[in-house]
Amino acid sequence: MNTIIDINNVSYEYPGGRRVFENLTLELNKEETTFLTGKNGCGKTTLAKLIMGILKPTFGEIKLFGHSTREMSLGSIGERVGYVFQHPERQLFAASVMEELTFPLLFRGYDKDEVINKAEKMLDIFDLQKVKNSYPYFLSYGEKRCLAIASVLMLNPEYLILDEPTASLDIERIGVLSQVLEDLKNKNIGMLIISHNKDFIERHKDRIINLEGGYYD
Ligand SMILES: Nc1ncnc2c1ncn2[C@@H]1O[C@H](COP(=O)(O)OP(=O)(O)OP(=O)(O)O)[C@@H](O)[C@H]1O
Ligand SMILES: [Mg+2]
Repeated sequence: MNTIIDINNVSYEYPGGRRVFENLTLELNKEETTFLTGKNGCGKTTLAKLIMGILKPTFGEIKLFGHSTREMSLGSIGERVGYVFQHPERQLFAASVMEELTFPLLFRGYDKDEVINKAEKMLDIFDLQKVKNSYPYFLSYGEKRCLAIASVLMLNPEYLILDEPTASLDIERIGVLSQVLEDLKNKNIGMLIISHNKDFIERHKDRIINLEGGYYD
């Protein structure tokens, strides 16, 4: 298996003293869908932020594609690993749904027609056409989550981290998301998915890691 994320003896303590992990060692493989489960507050989101380099380990090291997150910029990690936040509204910033999808690629200089075509496909897939011109802030929570997922997928990540992606989605939208994830898996995109949704886990899992109080199996 091709290790893409190498978590080596990591301990993390929030400023103020809350120690979340003690000597956590874990390898995540490309081309594998790994679920991260565990009780509220056990550190799932913290681990996602550590992998994304948003937080740095207090002790130990995390390597992405062979490089320590201490030495990588947030931008260079974000170019390769897509991260959908647990609270999608925190990653939406544009003035319209269409701009949310297109801006990051247009900013990077991609061809405008291609970017718009790609965004239109995302709007179709995630049933967001009717809110295309809306201010993301006013979308329903489920629509916000779909928009956050779609905007991350616009960047063609090599690996994907999804924090509670089915939360607040209705059954139809969970079905759409499942289809999207299966298509990504067929393209050998690996994923780390934080979830409590048993059916969803059962459908997509290659591997489950239960993270509780710093312990895992
Ligand atoms: N910024 C912070 N400062 C201090 N403590 C924090 C901070 N963020 C999280 N924590 C604490 O760290 C622990 C792990 O939080 P985290 O959000 O990673 O849990 P989680 O497993 O994602 O929980 P949930 O299932 O509720 O999303 C919790 O006890 C939380 O209170
Ligand atoms: Mg969380």
